[in-house]
Amino acid sequence: MSLFSTPFDPATDTALVTGAGNGIGRAIAQALIGEGVRTVFADVSAERVSAAIAASSRPELAVPWVGDLARLEACDELLAAAQAALGEVSHFVHSASPPRREADHALAVDRKIWQEMHAVNLDAGFHLARAIAKRLIAAKRPGSFLFLTSLHTGTPRNLPHYSTAKAAMAMLVKELAKTFGRHDIRVNALVPGAIAAGGFVADASLAMHIPLGRLGEAEDLAPMALAVLSNKLSGYVTGAAFVVDGGLSLTNWFEPPMLEE
Ligand SMILES: NC(=O)c1ccc[n+]([C@@H]2O[C@H](COP(=O)([O-])OP(=O)(O)OC[C@H]3O[C@@H](n4cnc5c(N)ncnc54)[C@H](O)[C@@H]3O)[C@@H](O)[C@H]2O)c1
Repeated sequence: MSLFSTPFDPATDTALVTGAGNGIGRAIAQALIGEGVRTVFADVSAERVSAAIAASSRPELAVPWVGDLARLEACDELLAAAQAALGEVSHFVHSASPPRREADHALAVDRKIWQEMHAVNLDAGFHLARAIAKRLIAAKRPGSFLFLTSLHTGTPRNLPHYSTAKAAMAMLVKELAKTFGRHDIRVNALVPGAIAAGGFVADASLAMHIPLGRLGEAEDLAPMALAVLSNKLSGYVTGAAFVVDGGLSLTNWFEPPMLEE
C-alpha cells in the first residue's frame, strides 16, 4: 500500500485553517482542499477568503468564514459555523496573525498593537484548539493541530509583541501536546523562515544569508504542513517544531533596530 497516495481520509477528515485568506494559511488550506479535505477558510478579510477559495482546486469543498479573531466571541462564532458546516473539526491550523511592522520596536509599539498580536496568535489559538479538542475527546476521535510559530520564539526580532506572542505559542504547543496526547490529538508547530507571503515585507537581499539561496514561498510550507497534519504520515509525532527556512536559522541575524536619537 502506498503511504503517500492517501495521507488524509476525505470521508472523515475535516479542517479549519485560520489566516486562510493569504500567505501560508492560504497555501495550506488550498493544499488540504487538493487532498479532498473539506476545509473552513477563516480570515478577517472577506475579499481574501473569496479569492483564496476561488483559486483553490475544488472550491465546493471550501467553507468561507469572515471575522476578527482578536475577539473571543468571534472565535466562538467560527467554531459554531465550522461545526454546522463540517461536524467535528479533526485538523486545525492556526496561521492568522496581524502584520509585522518594523516601526513597532520596543520603544514604539502601542498597547493596541501589542494586545492584538497576542489576542490573534495566542488567545485565539488556545481558545480554538481547546474547544475543538474538547469536542473530539467527547466524540472519541483523533485530531491533529498545527500552529505557525517563528524562528523568533527563541531569538529577538526587534518586535517584542510578535516574538513574545510566538514564544508563548511555542510553549502552548508543548502544553497542549502533553495534555491532549492521551486522547490521540497531536499538536505541533511549523516554523517558517523568511517567507515572501504578506505578513513579512521581505528584503530580497536577505537571500544571501539563506543557505538554499532564496526567500521562501508560502507553497514551500504547505507540503510539510500536510505531512505533519496527516495522521498516517506522522501519527507518532507530537509536541515537535518543524523548521522550514532554507537553512536561514543557521545564519539568522538581525541588527538592533535603528532608533531616532
Ligand atoms: N511570512 C513569514 O516569513 C513568516 C515567518 C515566520 C512566521 N510566520 C507566521 O506564519 C503565519 C502566516 O504568515 P504569513 O506571512 O502567511 O501572513 P499573512 O499576513 O500573509 O497572512 C495572515 C492572514 O491572517 C489574517 N488575519 C490577520 N489578523 C486577523 C484577525 N484578527 N482575524 C482573522 N484573520 C486575521 C490576515 O488577513 C491574513 O490573510 C503567521 O502566524 C506568521 O506569524 C510567517
